[in-house]
Amino acid sequence: MSNNLFDFGMIGLGVMGRNLLLNMADHGFSVIGFDKDAVKNAALESAATPGTTVKGVPELAQMVQLLQPPRKIMMLVPAGKPVDDVIDSLLPLVEKDDIIIDGGNSHYTDTLRRVQYLGEKGIHFMGMGVSGGEQGARSGPSIMPGGDQTAYKNVKPMLEAIAAKVDGTPCVAYLGRSGAGHYVKMVHNGIEYAIMQLISETYSILKHAGLSNQQLHEVFKSWNEGKLQSFLVEITADIFLQKDDQSAADLVDVISDKAGSKGTGKWTSQDSMELPVAVPVIDTAVAMRTLSGYKDERVKASQLYAENNTEVPAATEEFIQQVHDALYFATILSYAQGLAMLFQASKYLSMDIPMPEVVSVWRGGCIIRSSLLETFAKAYREEAELSNILLNQEVAALVKSVEENTRSLVAFAAKSGIPAAGLMSSLSYFDAFRTESMPTNLIQAQRDYFGAHTYQRIDVPGIFHTEWGPQ
Ligand code: 6PG
Repeated sequence: MSNNLFDFGMIGLGVMGRNLLLNMADHGFSVIGFDKDAVKNAALESAATPGTTVKGVPELAQMVQLLQPPRKIMMLVPAGKPVDDVIDSLLPLVEKDDIIIDGGNSHYTDTLRRVQYLGEKGIHFMGMGVSGGEQGARSGPSIMPGGDQTAYKNVKPMLEAIAAKVDGTPCVAYLGRSGAGHYVKMVHNGIEYAIMQLISETYSILKHAGLSNQQLHEVFKSWNEGKLQSFLVEITADIFLQKDDQSAADLVDVISDKAGSKGTGKWTSQDSMELPVAVPVIDTAVAMRTLSGYKDERVKASQLYAENNTEVPAATEEFIQQVHDALYFATILSYAQGLAMLFQASKYLSMDIPMPEVVSVWRGGCIIRSSLLETFAKAYREEAELSNILLNQEVAALVKSVEENTRSLVAFAAKSGIPAAGLMSSLSYFDAFRTESMPTNLIQAQRDYFGAHTYQRIDVPGIFHTEWGPQ
């Protein structure tokens, strides 16, 4: 701390803001946070590691005055209007060359607008995805910055210090122009939705097979020790052992099946359609969360369409292996779809997203970290312009090794009426993606028949139209 001025300021001292600041302080930076809530300011200071420089203040102007120029100010506030409100209140207080970072889950189009708006005033604005939840923020998140390169160079040492490390490499890198940081984080969350949906389907299938929560814990724990090693599988194993403190039940059994969402998964789906890029496992995951909210209708339908011929699976080792393999297959497909979306978005939206860096940053600290990302990182090292990781030989070998078991499991789920839309969708995408000739020639014929939309031929170049009619 020089001149009694602080290195870094944070607006919003909720769980993420507080823990990121404490993490920075632990790495030798002097930090100051602003929150109107005195309780949050006190909580920040009392949680600081002894010997670190951490201060919480109730006035924004006070925080800005106490920062070393060029000021580095990050906000962690809810996406949307609150971000614009913070910017408006900061503008009279900051000076040319100061840096403002939005570390929340903002929509990338808002970030584009803000980069432009603040750039015109000489202020560097950076949209930055931060993943890892409370624990990640405190001990090492995955950080996805994009936009202003000058701003990034300025804060790079701080971000590298606080980020998660994998083999000594910090899980942070400059991920592209304009709104790239928030775009990458949006797609990260889309993949997060997909994998969570897939895990919930495998849980449901194994539960139908009669596995107790203790057994489910053991299965997921062993999966996490193998090729399905990932943060989401790891926490799933823990969840099955958690007891409810209000009853004798296992907590998972008393949690309502209506799943919430803040919108980033939906944004991924919406934007994929704008590009367009096909991400059907993510679309399915978003739809299933929506469908989970139809509780009353589902209760009525369950009586109307009683599951009277549901085949109960036998929890044999072979069956559990099939479930494992299907989850592995569909997890690869989820990453493949999300990464393909980033690859295309980078081109269409001129964001220059470096794919090898994206997967490298996701290897540690974030919610979708998994051992599979090492394989993808290798694939991109070999071919940075890989449009879809399914086209990589090594990834293809992994997919093929579990394809048969995935088909058996999906067929079983379909036959026995156990919902497995995500698993099914991943297999359907795979079958369409690996097909040289899709039946969409017929769709072209239909479009030309009723709407003269024209078609192309396989033998002669050009655009054609036919006067169709009953033959
Ligand atoms: C992360 C998470 C984080 C948050 C999700 C939850 O990477 O740390 O993605 O950002 O937990 O936004 O999203 P939903 O509320 O939409 O499930």
